[in-house]
Amino acid sequence: MTQNLADTSRPAAVPAAEPTAEPIATNAGASRGWWRDAVIYQVYPRSFADGNGDGMGDLPGVRSRLPYLRDLGVDAVWLSPFYASPQADAGYDVADYRAVDPMFGTLLDADALIRDAHQLGLRIIVDLVPNHSSDQHEWFQRALREGPGSPLRERYHFRPGKGAQGELPPNDWESIFGGPAWTRTVDPDGTPGDWYLHLFAPEQPDFNWENPAVADEFRSILRFWLDMGVDGFRIDVAHGMVKAPGLPDLGSHDQLKLLGNDVMPFFDQDGVHEIYRAWRKILDEYPGERIGVAEAWTPTVQRTANYVRPDELHQAFNFQYLGTHWDAAALREVIDVSLDAMRPVDAPATWVLSNHDVTRHATRFANPPGGTQIRTAGDRELGLRRARAATLLMLALPGSAYLYQGEELGLPDVTDLPDEVRQDPSFFRQAGQDGFRDGCRVPIPWSGTEAPYGFGPTPGGPSWLPQPASWAELSVEVQTGDPTSTLELYRSALAVRREHPALGAGTAVSWLPSAEGVLAFRRDSAAGSFVCTVNTTPEPVRIAAPGRLLLASAELAVVDGESVLPTDSAVWWAV
Ligand code: NOJ
Repeated sequence: MTQNLADTSRPAAVPAAEPTAEPIATNAGASRGWWRDAVIYQVYPRSFADGNGDGMGDLPGVRSRLPYLRDLGVDAVWLSPFYASPQADAGYDVADYRAVDPMFGTLLDADALIRDAHQLGLRIIVDLVPNHSSDQHEWFQRALREGPGSPLRERYHFRPGKGAQGELPPNDWESIFGGPAWTRTVDPDGTPGDWYLHLFAPEQPDFNWENPAVADEFRSILRFWLDMGVDGFRIDVAHGMVKAPGLPDLGSHDQLKLLGNDVMPFFDQDGVHEIYRAWRKILDEYPGERIGVAEAWTPTVQRTANYVRPDELHQAFNFQYLGTHWDAAALREVIDVSLDAMRPVDAPATWVLSNHDVTRHATRFANPPGGTQIRTAGDRELGLRRARAATLLMLALPGSAYLYQGEELGLPDVTDLPDEVRQDPSFFRQAGQDGFRDGCRVPIPWSGTEAPYGFGPTPGGPSWLPQPASWAELSVEVQTGDPTSTLELYRSALAVRREHPALGAGTAVSWLPSAEGVLAFRRDSAAGSFVCTVNTTPEPVRIAAPGRLLLASAELAVVDGESVLPTDSAVWWAV
């Protein structure tokens, strides 16, 4: 299944991108810590751009839209998995880590995409899924075929069941997607056999990282993509690869509720850090500062900091920030805690509001506080107002920020998808925590008045999830050039962030005195200072302007010489 880069039978779908003045040289030796303040844009390949019109986004589609991302002003693009996969979990079930799934294109397309991105000054980060493979992975298929005693079984967690006939799972662990974390196999002679562990769907068997063949294979996979020129990896379930010895029972049900609060025998075990130390050495062998980003859900930001110690990975997602509601005191606290946690390990704080696993923040903020899986549309106007302000707040903070495709258009979650179009595996395993993830994965609108709104090449053509009719008004085409649009707000914010000397990397903010429900902080540099003010209250708030207005998420008024911060707004000032 592994594809050959020399295969030129498939013509390039789009012309090569125009080079810019500052292409990325991945063989450059100089280190500037580009990742310390990078704005990284997540592309969800299924839903970004469909080059061949089959209703599914693909790599040629992404490639054709790279100039848009350059113009938006991001530094790097993280692509969710595009590898060969039966798509039981939208590509997070990988059957061949060195091949591109035909639905997304070929290795040649990946190569062209990486080259074009570098020409445009954009870095490329790919997703790596080391906790589990697809059940269609060659190793797992052979393990099943060869039956008990097969050395391939050692690369996964196969165990005999409990009970007189082995009819009960080996322990009480529950799948993150709901139901037991174990599935029983059938032996080659047709009789019920051992069970295997899958923390996610049954189609995603967990690797046994105690087995040296697994570690060897992933070191080789890292090199394969580094040799292709990628600038880094986002590491899926980075906290999950090592399980507590003996796979002990947890002793409680409803284990999903414990996630993020308690140390679990399958998450955030200290042994995972050995893996990252080995990987860091490989990343450092390559020129141009290749990075690793941990998707690690841990009980505290301090535990998250362990993943970004100087000899481990470079960044870790800040899910505590993502989970914070629109509340000034809570925001201030999570900002302080995050910066304090990262300082001792000399890693940048990261900030993120949306991704492909959670309800988009425009919809979260449209609803009363209620976690990251929201099922109601809520007050759309309120949600968008807060989302725009939240973005300006995030982009003003020291460190690196992650954007999720479509948030720059102010897209809401699609909360009314009919059940029959849903594809998220956790939706079908009712108890799962993430059952409503399809709502943030709907293909994004680019242009035109008819679905798929430029997502695919043909008006009236297909898209793998239906787009709401209201998205015609939210397309890139409609928003471009409209100074009040969310897209132009993002473009301006990213341009200011690049230019202003006090924005970007850093380790601290100085809080300024402010009224209840209002945040005000200052950032200083030798070349100029910066203030961000945020009004989270339902009322306008008057303040003495702290400086020259740079950018605001909503229109400011001036009354009696004072500036009036509109409700749910953020304002950037040059000082
Ligand atoms: C985290 C990914 O973001 C999510 O989409 C996926 O379902 C799980 N990991 C399992 O790979």
